[in-house]
Amino acid sequence: MKITIFGTGYVGLVTGTCLADVGHDVMCMDVDADKIARLEAGEIPIYEPGLEEMVKANVAEGRLRFTTDPAAAVDFGVLQFIAVGTPPDEDGSADLQYVLAVAETIGRHMTEEKVVVDKSTVPVGTADRVKAAVAGALAERGAAIDFEVCSNPEFLKEGAAIEDFTHGARIIVGTESERVKTLMRECYAPYIRLHDKLMFMDVRAAELTKYAANAMLATKISFMNEIANLAERLGADVEQVRRGIGSDPRIGYQFIYPGCGYGGSCFPKDVQALARTAGEVDYEAELLGAVEAVNRRQKQTLFAKLSRAFDGDLAGRTIALWGLAFKPNTDDMRDAPSRTLMEALWAAGARVQAYDPEAMDECRRLYGEREDLALVEDRVQAVEGADALVICTEWKAFRSVDFAWLKSRLTLPVVVDGRNLFEPETARAAGLLYYAVGRGDSLRPAER
Ligand code: UDX
Repeated sequence: MKITIFGTGYVGLVTGTCLADVGHDVMCMDVDADKIARLEAGEIPIYEPGLEEMVKANVAEGRLRFTTDPAAAVDFGVLQFIAVGTPPDEDGSADLQYVLAVAETIGRHMTEEKVVVDKSTVPVGTADRVKAAVAGALAERGAAIDFEVCSNPEFLKEGAAIEDFTHGARIIVGTESERVKTLMRECYAPYIRLHDKLMFMDVRAAELTKYAANAMLATKISFMNEIANLAERLGADVEQVRRGIGSDPRIGYQFIYPGCGYGGSCFPKDVQALARTAGEVDYEAELLGAVEAVNRRQKQTLFAKLSRAFDGDLAGRTIALWGLAFKPNTDDMRDAPSRTLMEALWAAGARVQAYDPEAMDECRRLYGEREDLALVEDRVQAVEGADALVICTEWKAFRSVDFAWLKSRLTLPVVVDGRNLFEPETARAAGLLYYAVGRGDSLRPAER
């Protein structure tokens, strides 16, 4: 099957590459010529385990190709996936200019019947706007060619995107057209041979499913962070509470890990966008507002704990950071808790010494050269000469630590663990002033 993908960002590139990998003929189009040139040379603009090898193999096999030529892209596929970005605009709603620009491009260049597939995360009702944009561009040319628009939201987690694409829980397609159903079934046939997880539904239901899924997961996290904050004040250990409630299959163990708040490209943006959409239909989504507010506060707890440990005076201190990415196995720092922390530390006059296995370049890109930021080679260098350590991301390589060594490196020696990697008793027995999230006495001031 011939498939065109517009957008070679995270979603577009993973979708195009995975579809090529199962034998489809895929063309990926992007307006960014530099990006396309790099992709053609086998250079991947993002960090995603396994993706680079997959791109190279499929390019070599001739099933995956890249272009900046819109006419060639529209001409190529019977399915035209729109997988461009929908960044939040100032008021938190999704900015659809890129999605609608692709729709116009399709309308401007199509010469035969096409199916437009909305892959980007777009507000409910966008399929209608995409339809109008394609129709408008066709009308301008005086052309009358049939086309259809369906919704096919993605559920990819960064760091596990290929696995999620190939073994996801479901494939959602919003359409009422039998022709579209047949084509989408053909597109996903390799993934549903053993287990038919293709779900057809109304276009609007498909669009809302994406937001509902992310909002539900974000709600679980914020709920658990709220319980952790309570546990700190009540002298309970949230890790025990987590196991206690997770054992109920109605609740489940997944996505109930308390921490320093959720970040990334989806949860913060999608919760805000859904709340905005609610506002547009005169409904105040109180729960969504609370999920967002709890998360905003949670991202500030790392600084609050540090500040308490230093009696509110962090000026001139050097703070080591392990982890900058919003979660492990990615270099993405969008809305990462590490950023809230670093920015608060700088404002308080402290210096940051940070290490992340993948996100160093991204951090450099975001903050440039600054005197109060040292990006170092490894986690050992990060704690060299530091007063305290904060763990922001639960990279595997941070999970095992010689506490006695750590104590000998840190001057105070305060450890704020935003991901609950260690047993507080063990860390404290080694002489560390260890503060986790929701673990009994995580609030007490440092004993010096
Ligand atoms: C998420 C969804 O999981 C995915 O289905 C959707 O398509 C896009 O958004 P992603 O943002 O890549 O994926 O990361 P995810 O692994 O879901 O983590 C999101 C954030 O929640 C991270 O900051 C993570 O640290 C945090 N988190 C996750 C918790 O704090 N606690 C948890 O129990 C789980």
